[in-house]
Amino acid sequence: MENQLLQYLLQYGLAGLAMYFMYKLMCNHSQTLAEVICKKMDEMKDEIKLLREKIENLQEIYKFTKKIDFAPWIKPKQSFAVRAKRVGEHDFTSIDIARVVGQAVIDSYRESTNVRLKVNLTQPEIIVRAEVVFDELLIGLDLTGDEALHKRGYRIYQHPAPLNPSIAASLVMLSNWSAEKSLLDPMCGSGTILIEAALLGRNIPPGEFRNSYAFIKIFGDDILEEAKGKVEEKNVKLELYGLEKFKKHVNGAMKNAEKAKVSDTITFLKGDATKLEKIFNKSFDVVIVNPPYGLRIARKGIIRKLYNNFLRSLKKIIHGKTEIIVITAEDKVFKELASADYTIKKEIKVKYGNLDAKIFMLSLYQRYSGDYQNSSYQAIERELLSKH
Ligand SMILES: C[S@@+](CC[C@H](N)C(=O)[O-])C[C@H]1O[C@@H](n2cnc3c(N)ncnc32)[C@H](O)[C@@H]1O
Repeated sequence: MENQLLQYLLQYGLAGLAMYFMYKLMCNHSQTLAEVICKKMDEMKDEIKLLREKIENLQEIYKFTKKIDFAPWIKPKQSFAVRAKRVGEHDFTSIDIARVVGQAVIDSYRESTNVRLKVNLTQPEIIVRAEVVFDELLIGLDLTGDEALHKRGYRIYQHPAPLNPSIAASLVMLSNWSAEKSLLDPMCGSGTILIEAALLGRNIPPGEFRNSYAFIKIFGDDILEEAKGKVEEKNVKLELYGLEKFKKHVNGAMKNAEKAKVSDTITFLKGDATKLEKIFNKSFDVVIVNPPYGLRIARKGIIRKLYNNFLRSLKKIIHGKTEIIVITAEDKVFKELASADYTIKKEIKVKYGNLDAKIFMLSLYQRYSGDYQNSSYQAIERELLSKH
């Protein structure tokens, strides 16, 4: 799907349009929606001529934008706003870009239709995106709107430190979890990771609970209905477990799961992630966790102790092939502690709110895994030891 969009980008000069679509939609699994929109774009390809041009100043931004025919995209009674961004050094601001592009849209529209478009900066029906990236101007129409796609619409309980649902879905995908595998989030807060897994496992589009998308104003209501009609939800029973220390978060997670219509397949328990072996007498195939991080100095010691005790306890409820994914802003402490008993297979840097965080992919260090018992690892280790 990403390739298909990239193809549009190159073929039709759809820089802005495809860019906003891809950047906002591809972080989750709305493939069907993406396919339907691509088809619609294909039907309209002769009309699609937005912009990607080299520019030097505001006059050129006005001149190039005014050449775009906005009539196929904006209906005469619709209001619009320009949202502008800028990367690089320029002698104009993003506010200047928005002003100039807005004027160019109004002038271009008036020339082709004799109508003066209404501007609505707070609740526009159509959002024109204008980005100046160094010396390049990109103009596009926003297909998702001001409300980002990670706002799924099921989060009726607000945890104080929730994980972005798009990141949560990405962690599930990264773990190679599939519907037949058991999954545990031992510090689940409001349940985001498990809810995203349940949506993936049941093939429920993550946008199912949202009411509006900007593309409806451009392509009409039918496109969403068409996409929804193509989705085949799977009513499979999944083995998803969430553990959380505080009762209020457990209750909140249950409410969110209910809203997302997946509460029947997730078990939320109140409990301590440093005593996992006392709660579970099974081993999990996948463990994904977003543990607390200590922003304040006073909490640093507590976090170290929590991570250490959690990692020790975790060893007792996993097997040699368990995939473990951890996202934390306390990456140095976590890495130091995890290295003792786990193999760190991969580290990925990620922005977590304003924080620089890391995703760790771990597995049990071979010495502890079942594979180790039956393999030649013991012999290799013995041989290495005998040489010292
Ligand atoms: C960063 S939050 C997780 C947020 C969650 N991913 C979400 O989207 O809502 C970390 C959670 O770990 C919980 N926690 C802290 N210590 C714990 C422990 N020993 N056992 C279980 N949960 C714990 C906290 O109460 C908090 O809800």
